[in-house]
Amino acid sequence: MRALTIIKSEHQNLAAVLYSMEHLIGEIDNGKHPDFAVFHGLFTYIDRFLDEYHHPKENRYLFPAVLARAPDTTDLIQELGRQHSEGETLFVEMLKALSAYEFSGASEFPQFRDSLLKYTAFERHHALLEENELLPRAREVLEASDWETIDAAFGENQDPMFGDQWDSEFSALFARLVNSLPTPLGLGDAWK
Ligand SMILES: [Fe+2]
Ligand SMILES: [Fe+2]
Repeated sequence: MRALTIIKSEHQNLAAVLYSMEHLIGEIDNGKHPDFAVFHGLFTYIDRFLDEYHHPKENRYLFPAVLARAPDTTDLIQELGRQHSEGETLFVEMLKALSAYEFSGASEFPQFRDSLLKYTAFERHHALLEENELLPRAREVLEASDWETIDAAFGENQDPMFGDQWDSEFSALFARLVNSLPTPLGLGDAWK
């Protein structure tokens, strides 16, 4: 069941990133000038970690195992899988809106803000649905042999940003992110 702890800690790390994104939008709303590299760093984290590691592990190991033991979860599992795809679509929309904002300036900010807030709300809701409905069912129905496979999969690639087993690329990326995030989120200068 180690995977359950890993999933929850990955969700917590995601929540910190979502919070940072919303905080930075608030800074711009208050008249501060953004450092676009910070948004690029945050989005790179989401893209690499959430869409390339976290969601694929759930899709490949956790969802099929729960479905096999509890066919009544079909609708829930389908919905969660659909949300993984929708999240990627919303992410691309947010990235495009960032690009337009960076290139064209303040007139594009409202669109960027809306797409970012839509994304953060969506991913937060998704993680909650997993924690409130999927994980309790997984704990209930999965057997030791199921957990062996799932635990191995989730243990293989710990959160590259926050886990113990950072590879050098991700630890460098994380250090840059912390250095660039404006205080009080990180060690960077406050936006002016
Ligand atoms: Fe998920
Ligand atoms: Fe998740």
